[in-house]
Amino acid sequence: MTGGGEQEQAQAVRTMFGAIAAKYDFLNHLLSGNIDRSWRTRTAREVERRIDVAHPRILDVGCGTADLALSFSRAGAVVGCDFCQPMLAIGREKISRARVPYPVDLLEGDALCLPFSDAAFDAVVSAFVLRNLANVEKGLHEMGRVLRSGGTLGILDFAMPKMPVIGSLYRFYFTNVLPRIGRWVSGSEGAYTYLPQSVQAFPPPERLRELVRSAGFNRVEFHYFTGGIAVLHVASKER
Ligand SMILES: C[S@@+](CC[C@H](N)C(=O)[O-])C[C@H]1O[C@@H](n2cnc3c(N)ncnc32)[C@H](O)[C@@H]1O
Repeated sequence: MTGGGEQEQAQAVRTMFGAIAAKYDFLNHLLSGNIDRSWRTRTAREVERRIDVAHPRILDVGCGTADLALSFSRAGAVVGCDFCQPMLAIGREKISRARVPYPVDLLEGDALCLPFSDAAFDAVVSAFVLRNLANVEKGLHEMGRVLRSGGTLGILDFAMPKMPVIGSLYRFYFTNVLPRIGRWVSGSEGAYTYLPQSVQAFPPPERLRELVRSAGFNRVEFHYFTGGIAVLHVASKER
């Protein structure tokens, strides 16, 4: 069960993504200069390197419009789970047009109470979701619960780059320019102001690594993408 405050936050996040769903993909690619595509491809490559079974079962938590799920569709059967129906509807449309060797199924569900049995997947992945959760530890715990022991976890999210000059320029873009473009294109007042705020409030990579360890994972490592704008954490569930 989620507490009252958690439910309110979850509802606000779900409403926000519902409001921007139609423009979500377009803005992702525009605001990142299309680099987000390569981040998901690299995530799939790093996670797949660790998977030790043929035809793995893969779960994408907070799959949104299914871009990450589709990045894994050549490795094995993928299930995407998200609590925002408008995002899922766009994802299903995209999947119906994609030629993929393995099935990609999307279903509605909450990351804090995943609708799957224990140890149901060989890999659990998630992109740009964890910082939106009302309870990050609970989200990691749920991912660990549905992952079989020895299975692989992959978590991709934004971070604030630390390099002196590029970091400052990026910070200016991220906190001043991006919210204006996002507001203008999506029509949403808050979503693209919330984005930099949620990234700045999120634990930095070293701290997230500790949270992942505490949730029962080992072999935790992180990879910086594009100078640290995005970070991928990869880990294995303890045997
Ligand atoms: C920034 S989008 C990321 C979508 C996708 N993973 C991607 O790579 O583009 C965040 C997604 O997480 C979903 N989400 C946030 N909190 C969630 C929760 N508690 N349970 C399920 N989905 C959640 C939102 O509905 C949204 O689709």
